[in-house]
Amino acid sequence: MIKIAPSILSADFARLGEEIESVKCADYIHFDVMDGVFVPNISFGLPVLKSVRKITDKTLDVHLMLKSPSQYASRFAKAGGDIITFHVEAETPGAIHFTIDEIKKLGKKAGLSLKPETPAEAVLPYINDLDIVLVMTVEPGYGGQAFISDMLPKVSELRAVIDSRGLGCELEVDGGINHDTARLCIAAGANVLVAGSDVFYAPNRSAHIAELRNH
Ligand code: DX5
Ligand code: ZN
Repeated sequence: MIKIAPSILSADFARLGEEIESVKCADYIHFDVMDGVFVPNISFGLPVLKSVRKITDKTLDVHLMLKSPSQYASRFAKAGGDIITFHVEAETPGAIHFTIDEIKKLGKKAGLSLKPETPAEAVLPYINDLDIVLVMTVEPGYGGQAFISDMLPKVSELRAVIDSRGLGCELEVDGGINHDTARLCIAAGANVLVAGSDVFYAPNRSAHIAELRNH
């Protein structure tokens, strides 16, 4: 089954509760945390996550675009994140293993994300322990960018590893997802689609989410 994760980076933050309510038919709510160091933009963090946790039962899919995520992952898990995904480029191998364990010990799901220039191989040492792998299909930092189609072979490569090893790991794509690119990503093996601007700028968000899901 294909899951849709609207990214609230494209929501109106002054009306965040209503915006989340408007996409309640989605599977996950994608929560992009940016520190202005790992990526050249600043979004929102722990206080906003705590507030969002109080107003929704949806699965909160936290995407940490932070330097030193090992210092923050458990705090986002305790603040109400259900899936905590951080970047493989942002930590040493030892800290990556430690952080995955820490997230799982808190009863949450752990994910690793790859920037466009990072090859699939970078997550293979960890993939048996992961609940989700997030392939960035734009440079992380901003919503509304164009999909990088060169990422499709990476998605296929990771799908092949997940299937050949019989892993339960989900495969998520993030950036530039719309009706056309969703189809390409699903064909390549993705099962979770993050969509920010495409969902929040749609005239009928619920219908749009259903269309993206039912390719
Ligand atoms: C980008 C974020 C994405 C972003 C996607 O760094 O990780 O989640 O919100 O936005 P769209 O769907 O507009 O490309
Ligand atoms: Zn994201």
